[in-house]
Amino acid sequence: MTDDAEPAADGGEPQDAIDAQGTRRREELDERVFEYSAGDEQEGIPFVGAGPGNPRLLTVAGKELLEEADLVVHAGSLVNSELLEAYCGHAELVNSVGKDLEELIPLMRDAYEDGRTVVRLHSGDPAIYGAALEQMDALEHEGVPTYFVPGVTSAFAASATLRTQLTLNEVSNHVAFTRPQGKTLDPEEDHISEFVAMGDVTTCIYLGTHAVRETMDRLLEDGHDPETPVAVIYHASWPDEDVIVGSIGTIADQVEAAGYRASALVVIGDAVTGAGYERSYLYGDWANRGAEGEGTSD
Ligand SMILES: C[S@@+](CC[C@H](N)C(=O)[O-])C[C@H]1O[C@@H](n2cnc3c(N)ncnc32)[C@H](O)[C@@H]1O
Repeated sequence: MTDDAEPAADGGEPQDAIDAQGTRRREELDERVFEYSAGDEQEGIPFVGAGPGNPRLLTVAGKELLEEADLVVHAGSLVNSELLEAYCGHAELVNSVGKDLEELIPLMRDAYEDGRTVVRLHSGDPAIYGAALEQMDALEHEGVPTYFVPGVTSAFAASATLRTQLTLNEVSNHVAFTRPQGKTLDPEEDHISEFVAMGDVTTCIYLGTHAVRETMDRLLEDGHDPETPVAVIYHASWPDEDVIVGSIGTIADQVEAAGYRASALVVIGDAVTGAGYERSYLYGDWANRGAEGEGTSD
């Protein structure tokens, strides 16, 4: 907690609020789950996904909410300043980086209770490594309603840039959104090597730009094929986007030469190149077999 941060309104810590909300969740699902759909306008503070960077990749709902906001609390350097300039012209902007829950929650709560329109803006989609729920729980505990507005996660921008699919018939049947071991993930919780071992998984590593060499070294130690394709997409969809394509054996040198230590997505697997896939059933005879074809429509 920072020195000048106010305590929570009820004198409790955010962790107490999170625990209380967790207890409530275990007992019953929030009735709003059945009342609203994603994208519906709702009461409270929206937790909006800004998308990967390009302002055009913000959702229509997100754009409308930002345009109406008096206060936008945003995720700092991962949110493109062009997007803030384009859509938040009249709002007060607060960078959340470096602020803890004890500072952020009263800031948003007080603004909301003063009748200001508040938007919490996360990068990509708030549901992926966004730490959004703990803020929402702490706010809800203090009587401030909240809700999610989804965004385009950076893995989807990366696959579009690579002109490939993350799932591809006969190449990749699964996608893993993951992160490498480090300060917040113990070595036994790092499953990257297991995902790669499965062979038909596209592994999308968030928060791992600084650790590309360690990650690749571990994969080599575990006996993975050094030729396995790897792409590192720096600032996907930003004007300074950069794409590095290599393999488990080469990518660490390539990324180090480029100098990237943050803000990139690492994609491992054959889907990186898109080579070797086979036509799907969707547009073949199989799709026309009546009821048997159900479930193939996307
Ligand atoms: C705290 S996580 C937030 C992820 C975000 N919620 C999302 O859905 O993309 C930050 C990590 O996301 C990845 N990231 C976010 N924006 C990116 C972009 N435009 N291009 C590549 N990677 C990005 C990087 O790996 C970065 O370290």
